[in-house]
Amino acid sequence: MSSENRSRIDLERLPVHIAIIMDGNGRWANERGLKRIEGHKKGGDVVDDITTYARQLGIKYLTLYAFSTENWQRDPEEVSFLMQLLADFLREKREKILNNNIRLNAIGNIDDLPQLVKERLIAVMNESSKNSEMVLTLALSYGSRSEIVNAVKSILRDSSQGKISVDELTEQRFSDYLYTKGMPDPDILLRTGGEKRISNFLLYQISYSELIFVEKKWPDFTPSDLEEAIIEFQRRQRRFGRAKSII
Ligand code: FPP
Repeated sequence: MSSENRSRIDLERLPVHIAIIMDGNGRWANERGLKRIEGHKKGGDVVDDITTYARQLGIKYLTLYAFSTENWQRDPEEVSFLMQLLADFLREKREKILNNNIRLNAIGNIDDLPQLVKERLIAVMNESSKNSEMVLTLALSYGSRSEIVNAVKSILRDSSQGKISVDELTEQRFSDYLYTKGMPDPDILLRTGGEKRISNFLLYQISYSELIFVEKKWPDFTPSDLEEAIIEFQRRQRRFGRAKSII
């Protein structure tokens, strides 16, 4: 991290929650004449670098889109490589997560994951459940529309059992039915890889997030690029639809 940037970040106004769409692994590999899986492998290292940097800086919530519901439709070889990469990540980073007081969390249809990934994920989530410095959330087999539809289904079920009435349903109560229950909404939604799309990620939660799109592909993304994004976030005036800036 450059000391120049460190001084340019206002530590008093850090984003609380940063969510990232880690895009561009495949293209990064293709450009180098490598197989797509090589891009994912390098992407896994970048996950570690960015998590370490965010933790050092004092970011409280980091949410990474690691695998979407749509990603199951990729070549089976690529899917199984990604699942193995996740399983390896959970084994190799377990100690680091625990030692750094990070709580691991997951959002998505966790039951869709292969048994090994699911077991390791749940084990590290349980072991780290009392950690309090940062919440690292992996979005796995995640899709925002299905999250919202599932929330509505649960609300209808609870309503038929008299647990919630129409008048009691507020935005706050609704968000308690989402996977992200208890988490603050992202301050920043960042996407690497040049595309300017949301791709079914946290649609409800990003209503007021600052959207930051960067050209660099995920395997090339560095802590210093994240610093730049935070500086950009701090530069923007956040008004939440009101007239005056509140920060
Ligand atoms: C998008 O790039 C990336 C993914 C679908 C997978 C993200 C996975 C990682 C970064 C590594 C593993 C994660 C962890 C948490 C260990 P793409 O393949 O869609 O790239 P493209 O748009 O260039 O094809």
